[in-house]
Amino acid sequence: MKLIFASHNENKVAEIQNMLGEGFHLISLKELCFYDEIPETAATLEGNSIIKAETVFERFQMPCFADDTGLEVDVLGGEPGVYSARYGGEDKNADKNMDLLLKNLQGNSNRNARFRTVITYRIQDETHQFEGAVEGSIINEKIGVCGFGYDPIFIPKGSKKTFAQMSTEEKNTFSHRARAFEKLRIFLRQG
Ligand code: IMP
Repeated sequence: MKLIFASHNENKVAEIQNMLGEGFHLISLKELCFYDEIPETAATLEGNSIIKAETVFERFQMPCFADDTGLEVDVLGGEPGVYSARYGGEDKNADKNMDLLLKNLQGNSNRNARFRTVITYRIQDETHQFEGAVEGSIINEKIGVCGFGYDPIFIPKGSKKTFAQMSTEEKNTFSHRARAFEKLRIFLRQG
């Protein structure tokens, strides 16, 4: 089955292709020569993933899916959430994002947070959403060099290491994205 993954990130497309396995052929936006930046104007992860999936479905009329992820910090009312990528500025710099988050959490003992991924799958006139989340806490300093984004300051529940101290395989045993895509995989296999 051919499916479009509405992402400009080729590494992510390869990673998800690997996760979904044989029987599914993911087509990236690059392969379709679709380079437009899709405006993520919704106030929720659910909304933004729908916008991306709808935009690409309208354009190519093929089954497609899109994902959107955010880090939700309880004492900050769920921030940075949908604004995670550009929390510290429009240049989407991971260090600036983490620095601002650590500053905003200074003196706070409640460090509870979660990563949440929402996938929207669009086929014909059906839309399905799948969610994956991992609970954890934000530490006071950056530890570890692997991964990306907020990985150096996030420790998932049940571990003593940050995501940035884990291999990709180990991170995937906890990860929000892996959990959401596992739900999509099961759904696609049933269909
Ligand atoms: P996206 O929706 O996958 O592009 O993720 C939005 C933003 O959330 C990214 O730019 C990162 O700042 C953050 N993020 C998403 N997934 C992860 C992760 O697995 N680890 C750390 N940060 C992440």
